[in-house]
Amino acid sequence: MSTGSGRAGSGKRDAGSDVVQNGRSRPQAEESSMENGRSSDHADDGRVRIFDTTLRDGEQAPGCTMTLEEKVAVAHQLARLKVDVIEAGFPAASEGDWTAVNQIAREVGGLYGPDICGLARAKERDIDLCWTAVEPAANARIHIVLATSDLHMKHKLGMTRAQVVAAVAAAVSHACSLGGQVEFSAEDAVRTDPQFLYEVLTAALDCGATTLNVPDTVGYSTPDEYGALVSGVRANVPGIERATVSAHCHDDLGLAVANSLAAARAGARQVECTINGIGERAGNAALEEFVMALHTRGQFFGLHTSIETRALARTSRLVSQCTGVPVPPNKAIVGANAFAHEAGIHQDGVLKNRLTYEIMSAETVGWDGVGLVLGKHSGRHALRVKTEALGYELTDDELSRVFAQFKELADRKKLVDEQDIHGLLFPFVAGSLQLQLESKA
Ligand code: KIV
Ligand code: ZN
Repeated sequence: MSTGSGRAGSGKRDAGSDVVQNGRSRPQAEESSMENGRSSDHADDGRVRIFDTTLRDGEQAPGCTMTLEEKVAVAHQLARLKVDVIEAGFPAASEGDWTAVNQIAREVGGLYGPDICGLARAKERDIDLCWTAVEPAANARIHIVLATSDLHMKHKLGMTRAQVVAAVAAAVSHACSLGGQVEFSAEDAVRTDPQFLYEVLTAALDCGATTLNVPDTVGYSTPDEYGALVSGVRANVPGIERATVSAHCHDDLGLAVANSLAAARAGARQVECTINGIGERAGNAALEEFVMALHTRGQFFGLHTSIETRALARTSRLVSQCTGVPVPPNKAIVGANAFAHEAGIHQDGVLKNRLTYEIMSAETVGWDGVGLVLGKHSGRHALRVKTEALGYELTDDELSRVFAQFKELADRKKLVDEQDIHGLLFPFVAGSLQLQLESKA
C-alpha cells in the first residue's frame, strides 16, 4: 500500500443551474432612482433582494438568543454572504437590542455593505430609537410594523380601521422626516381584508415608504393564495411601481419557502428570511433554501439573488453555534446529509457522474469535506474513493480485505465514519511501515 491523494467525484457544475449569480449589489445611489432623497428600488432586473432577519425574527424565537458579540459576528458573516439587508434587531425592545443594532450599523453598514435595518412599532418613541440605532449605517432603514387584520386590530390593538390608517400615515411620515429608507409591514396581511390592505399600503406609500411588506405572520397561506395576494397588491395600490413589494413568510404549515417563491414569481422583489429558517414558532422562510431554489432552477424562475452561495454552509454553522440550535441532518442545503449518499446504487452513480443524484454541488453551497457517507449499503467503489480521499492507495487485494472488514463493521454500526476507516486501514499502514523498517535495516 502507498499513500496518495485524491478526492472523490468533484464535479463543479450544478445540474440545473443556468443563471450565473451576479456580484454584490452596488451602493443604492448607483442602482436605484432617488426620490425625495430616498432610494426606490423599483427597476425590475429580476433580482430578488434578500432581507435577512435572523438577528430579529430569528433571534426572538425561543432558545435562539445571542450575545452582543455573537450578533456582531453573525452580522459580519451575513455581509460576507452578501445579503442586501440585515434586520439587526428591535432597538426599542431593550438597551441590549439598541446597542447591538447600533454596533452592527457602525461596523457592518458600510457603503458597499448591506443596508442595516431596525424594527419599530408605529410609535414615535420606537421610531426615534430605531433611527438613532441604525443612523451610522451608510444605508439605514426603519422598518415599521402595524397589524391590519380585523382580528389583530380588534383584539390586540383595540383600534378601528380609520385609526390604523392614520397611525400608519403618521408613523411613516415621521420616519421619513428622520432620513434613511422606510419599510412598512402590514402585520397579518394574509388575513387582512384585501381592500383594506390596499388602502393601508397606499397610505404608507403616499407618505414615503419605499418597501411594502405583506407578511404571512401566522404561516397560514398557500403558494397560490400568497402569489395572488402579491399580484393583488401590485394591481391595486396606485403608484406601487415606486416601491418594492416584499414577502415575509412563516413556516407553520411548512410552506414558508414555497410561499416566498410564489411571491417572487408574482413580482415580490424582496424576500425576508432567516438562516436555517429559525424564527417565531415553526420559523421563517429559510434563506439558504429560497436562494438555492432560484439558483438551481434559474431557468424556471428567471430570477436571481446576489447571495454568495459558497458562504451558505459556513453561515449556517455559525448561526447554529451562536444560537445553540442544531441543524437537523436532513435539512435541505445545509444539513449534514444534504449532499451525502449512502445507498450503494446512489454512491456508484454519483462517483461515475455526480449529476445522476445531485441537482447542485456541495461546493456551490460551501460544503467542504463532506461527500460519501459509508454504511452497510456502500459498495467497493465507494470504499475505494473514500480511502483515496483519506490519502491511502490500496492494491485490489488490500481493498478486498478491507472491504470484508468494512462490511462486518457496517453491519454493527449504522454509519462508518472517517475514524473507523482509519482504524480499518491501520494494520495496512503498520504493515507497510514494518516493511519499510525491515528494508532499511
Ligand atoms: O411576522 C411578521 O409579521 C413580522 C413583522 C414584524 C414583519 O415579523
Ligand atoms: Zn415574522
